Amino acid sequence: MPATRNTSFDDLFYQPADRFFPANSNIGLTFDDITLATLYSEILPRDTQLDIALTDGLQLNIPVISSDMDTVTESRMAIAMALNGALGLIHYNIPEREQLSEVSRVKNHIHGLIQEPIKVSPEQFIGDVLALIEQKKFGFSTFPVVDERGKLLGLLSGHVVKPRYAKRKIADALTPRSQVHTISQKEISKDAITRADKFFNEHPGIHKMLVVDDKDYLRGLFTMSDVERITQERNAQFKPARDVHFRLVCGAAVSATRNAFGELDRERILNHVVALVERGVDVIAVSTAHGHSKGVGDTVKVLRDAFPKLPLIAGNVTSAAGVEYLADCGANAIKVGQGPGSICTTRIVAGVGIPQITALYVCSVAAAKKKVSILADGGITKSGDIVKALTLAQAVICGGIFAGCTEAPGDVMEIGGKLYKHYRGMGSLAAMKSGSAARYGHEKNPAQKVAPEGVEALKEACGPVDRVLAQLIGGIQSGMGYLGAANLAQLRDQARYIRVSPAGMREAAPHDVVELKTGN
Ligand code: XMP
Repeated sequence: MPATRNTSFDDLFYQPADRFFPANSNIGLTFDDITLATLYSEILPRDTQLDIALTDGLQLNIPVISSDMDTVTESRMAIAMALNGALGLIHYNIPEREQLSEVSRVKNHIHGLIQEPIKVSPEQFIGDVLALIEQKKFGFSTFPVVDERGKLLGLLSGHVVKPRYAKRKIADALTPRSQVHTISQKEISKDAITRADKFFNEHPGIHKMLVVDDKDYLRGLFTMSDVERITQERNAQFKPARDVHFRLVCGAAVSATRNAFGELDRERILNHVVALVERGVDVIAVSTAHGHSKGVGDTVKVLRDAFPKLPLIAGNVTSAAGVEYLADCGANAIKVGQGPGSICTTRIVAGVGIPQITALYVCSVAAAKKKVSILADGGITKSGDIVKALTLAQAVICGGIFAGCTEAPGDVMEIGGKLYKHYRGMGSLAAMKSGSAARYGHEKNPAQKVAPEGVEALKEACGPVDRVLAQLIGGIQSGMGYLGAANLAQLRDQARYIRVSPAGMREAAPHDVVELKTGN
C-alpha cells in the first residue's frame, strides 16, 4: 500500500480550503497568489472526467462558458463551445429580436450541414465554373445546379468540370434532377450525421448528400469527408453539449431592464425570456455588474415564478450574502467576480471588488449551504487559473481567452504584421452606448458623466476555439492528474493551497532563458 498522504507534516504547509482561506482572511488573494500542492495519484490526465451538472437540466461535458460579451459570444462562438461540450452565453448588446435569432441559429445548427453551399446556374458555362474554382481556390469541383429561386435542377459533376468542356453550358452538362440522389430536410432533423453516414453507405461513389425541402428547394449539403471526420470525433472524450432533443445547448444573457420611470420593466423582461424559451434556450443569465441588488433579485424572482424549472444564472457577486440572496431569489448558478476581468476597471474606477480566488472561496461556502453552483467569472488567463478556480467553483466563464478566436464576433485586423481582434469591456463607453449600460446601472445613452468601468482593447488572433479549448482542457486534466482527482468533485475535495511569494511567482514562469517558442 503506497503512502498516499503524510498528513502530519505536509498539512503544516499545504492546507485545505477551509483552513487556508480563513487563515488568510486579512488579504485578498487571486490566482497567481496561490499554488496547489500535488497529492499521490493513480490518475492519468487523459482518464479524468470533466463533466459537470450546473443544475438540474444543464449538464456540460467540460466546465467552461464563454462570456456574454459583444466581442465574445454570438451564435458562431456558442456553436463552437457546445460542439466541444461547453456553453456559450449570447450577449444582450443587440436588439432583442437579433438575440432571438442568434439563439435560434445555435439551436437549429446541424453539425456537418453546409447551409449555404456554393451553387451554379444552368445558364453559366463550365469555363465560368473553372474560373470560380481557380479564383476562390476551391478544393472541390462538384456543384448543385439551382434556378434563380433556389430550386434544385441537377448536379454538375466534377467529371465534366474540365477545360475541354469549357464552352459548354451547364444546362447541357449537368446530371438531371431525376438522377440526383437527395434526402428530405425532415429526415435529418434528429441525428443528421448518422443519417448522412447511412446515405453514403447506401450510395457508393456519391460523396455529396443534397438536402431538399418539400418543394425541392436546396437546403444544404453534407460531404462525405466532413461526415467521416465528425464520425471519428464522436469517439473523442468530450462530446458536444446537447439538450434532450439532441440540439446544441445555448444560453442567453438578459439585464434587469428598467422602464422610462426607472422601475424594473417586468413585462418586457418576461416577454423576451418567453420568446427565448420558445427558441429553445437552455439557460438564462441575469448579467449585471452588481448582482446583490434589488433589481437583479427581482428579475430572478420574476423569471423563477414564470419558469419554475428553467436553469437561471445570476450575478455578479463576491460575497456570501450576495450568493445567499440570489439563491433565495431562485438562481441556480451564481456568477462570482467583480473586477478581475482582463478589460475591467471597476476596482480602479469604483474602488470596489475582491481579488478572485478569495471571492471564490467566500462564495463557495455560501453556495454549498444553498446547494447552488458558482461560476468563476473573469481574470482567467491560463489553464492553471482554471484548475485553481475549479477547486472552488463548478465552472469558469472566460472572455479574453476566447476574444481572439475565429468564432468571436468582429473582423481580424493587421497591425505591424500581427493579426488582432477587438475585445472590449461591456462597461466600456463604446459597449454601453451599444446597449450594455443597464449592466452597470446606467441609462442606455449614457451622458459624459458616466464613468466607464471597462476598456476597449485588442487580442491577438488565436485561431479556432477548438484549438484554444484543447490547450485549456489539456491543462485542466494535467492539474487533476497532479492532485489525483478523477473528476471535478474530487478536485474540489482534494485541493490544498499555499501562498506564493513574488519570487515564487517569478519562478513559476519561464526564467533565465531566451524563449524560442512560447508555451502555447
Ligand atoms: P476576462 O478576464 O475573461 O473577463 O476577459 C471577462 C469578464 O469580465 C467581466 N466584464 C467586465 N467587468 N468592466 C468590468 O468591471 C467591464 O467593462 C466588463 N466587461 C466584462 C464579465 O464578468 C466577463 O465575463
